[in-house]
Amino acid sequence: MSNKDINTIKENVPASWTSSMDSFIVKGKNAEIWDRENNRYIDYVGGYAVLNTGHLNPRVVKRVEDQLKNYSHSCFAFAPHENAVKVAKEINERYPIKENTKTFLVNSGAESIENATKIARYFTKRKNIIAFKGGFHGRTYLTMGLTGKDNPYKTGFGPFPEFIHHAEYPYLYRDVSDEVAIDSVNKLLENNVNPDDVAAFVVEVQLGEGGYIPASKQFLAELRRISNEKGILLIFDEVQTGFGRTGEMFGADTVNVSPDIATLAKGIAGGFPLAAVVGKSNIMDSIHESGIGSTFGASPISCAAALGVLEVFDKDDLIKNTKQHAEIMNKSLKGLMEESTFIGDVRGYGTMIGVEIVENQETKIPAKDIALNIIDNCKTNGLLLVNCGLEGNVIRFMGPLTTPINQVEEALEIFKNSVINI
Ligand SMILES: Cc1ncc(COP(=O)(O)O)c(C=O)c1O
Repeated sequence: MSNKDINTIKENVPASWTSSMDSFIVKGKNAEIWDRENNRYIDYVGGYAVLNTGHLNPRVVKRVEDQLKNYSHSCFAFAPHENAVKVAKEINERYPIKENTKTFLVNSGAESIENATKIARYFTKRKNIIAFKGGFHGRTYLTMGLTGKDNPYKTGFGPFPEFIHHAEYPYLYRDVSDEVAIDSVNKLLENNVNPDDVAAFVVEVQLGEGGYIPASKQFLAELRRISNEKGILLIFDEVQTGFGRTGEMFGADTVNVSPDIATLAKGIAGGFPLAAVVGKSNIMDSIHESGIGSTFGASPISCAAALGVLEVFDKDDLIKNTKQHAEIMNKSLKGLMEESTFIGDVRGYGTMIGVEIVENQETKIPAKDIALNIIDNCKTNGLLLVNCGLEGNVIRFMGPLTTPINQVEEALEIFKNSVINI
């Protein structure tokens, strides 16, 4: 990036708001992006797991262009529009909750979690929420409170809202078994908080920011059982696991466990800002008139884009693609584990794969610096990736599910060479 660009950034946006790329992005096409210096990259960051259907998917673009011929905004609370209702209907039909559901549309992941917990507290008339260590739920105060990873999200920003508790999330590679995690939930309910005053569990089917750690079906089924037994609502934060990432349309499909409420965002609208709260109708309908709302939520443009995204899943057989990608990626990355002692673990549902980098496979000591060097090497060779995890030592794959197979293979080859030459 030229000094001029760096200076403009420094002069105009807060220093804390840093970017990984060193040059302005000027063009994106499916899984590829180009910067101002005309460097071409395969984009396995995908706008942070947003571009499941790629940059400027033609089906999404067409819907947005059509919408822009008519109007760009109408606050749903004042003037309802058909696309919002179509999106809600599609999500109600597709999200795997067998009871009738209703869907409320907002702008961002954090806003969807805010609303899901707000609705859960209102419905249950209980105040406590149990979230999990390593979980990430957003940057607003409630969602920071729910987040179970301090640095950089919470450090210095306290105090956080009360009545939030954190239990262990299973992490097999670091010896937190399902039993240990469930035991910590039970201990919280025995020693720290009265179960009759717990409104909800908020849990990711697979940790995103927390290190791409999948929860087992058994763990989530046990949470479901505890929720049923104690009248606690089960909220799945599917902001990152939704829309094909985990190998099925939603994380709940992958683990075959149904929540009472789920939150969706990121991949929902192909890069346009939209998020959703889908929940059982009796819960969603319990709120008094105008108790929930959002000026920009259900933006007609974003809703048009979301319908385009669903069309891509239906017409371009995206779930089949995703499974094929996952197979190729797992084979290559697990194979690489045998060649490099820096790779401690390769895990995750579908294409939501995390590669945990360690000093060596015996000591398992987290090696953030090595992870960052690998990421840097990959960037130099045309592949974009970012890290995650409590120790920052997990490299995650968040590329479009529409990436052509030859580019999936190209990305894996760049990754392999970067690891081997570290
Ligand atoms: C699981 C999860 N929940 C919530 C959020 C917050 O979403 P947003 O940044 O759209 O507010 C994120 C964002 O990374 C996420 O991964």
